[in-house]
Amino acid sequence: MPENNNPRPLLTTTVKDPILGLALVLGDRKIVPYVPTREELIPRILDELDLGPDDIFYDIGCGDGRVAVYAAKYYGVRKSICIEIDKYLVEEALKRSILEGVADRVSVINADFNEVNVSDATAVYLYLLTSVNDLLKPKLEKELRPGTRVAALDFPVPGWRPFKKVGIDEYSDKTLYLYIIGSHNMD
Ligand SMILES: C[S@@+](CC[C@H](N)C(=O)[O-])C[C@H]1O[C@@H](n2cnc3c(N)ncnc32)[C@H](O)[C@@H]1O
Repeated sequence: MPENNNPRPLLTTTVKDPILGLALVLGDRKIVPYVPTREELIPRILDELDLGPDDIFYDIGCGDGRVAVYAAKYYGVRKSICIEIDKYLVEEALKRSILEGVADRVSVINADFNEVNVSDATAVYLYLLTSVNDLLKPKLEKELRPGTRVAALDFPVPGWRPFKKVGIDEYSDKTLYLYIIGSHNMD
């Protein structure tokens, strides 16, 4: 076996989701497992977000880029930004943006989403965990401008008031929580 001359300490994160009650132990800074949004739900989600050519759209934890690429290709957003920590998924997202002919409007950022400034967003998609949304909340509240639309699939942002909560799948229990920054606070 080759010697590892550059051992990196293996950091793990335990995330307990209050809804599922699951304790997930994930490596390093990957704090949500990869579960893609089902393709057929994407137009439903992006319709609810009311996306259009003026939008700068972010998928925070974008997986293989399917949502960000769809937003660029079929909703004509000005810019679609895909933030993903997993290098393999980053490659998949890049390939997808090229294959679908929208690489000029899709940016794939290989980084920890905690470290990427999202202040130019006009619309944001989150398919994370409630506990992770809670961790991201101070950052989102600091950076997102009033009027920015946020859609969270299945896992709400704790303490935020959705202006709409909608079931988006006739076959299963999938809920989309829609927020507008500026009127998202409970108080
Ligand atoms: C539930 S999946 C959603 C994927 C995609 N948004 C979709 O709907 O198809 C969550 C994604 O977040 C990514 N992720 C987890 N922790 C991350 C972090 N700290 N920074 C960036 N991405 C992260 C995972 O690798 C995974 O691809």
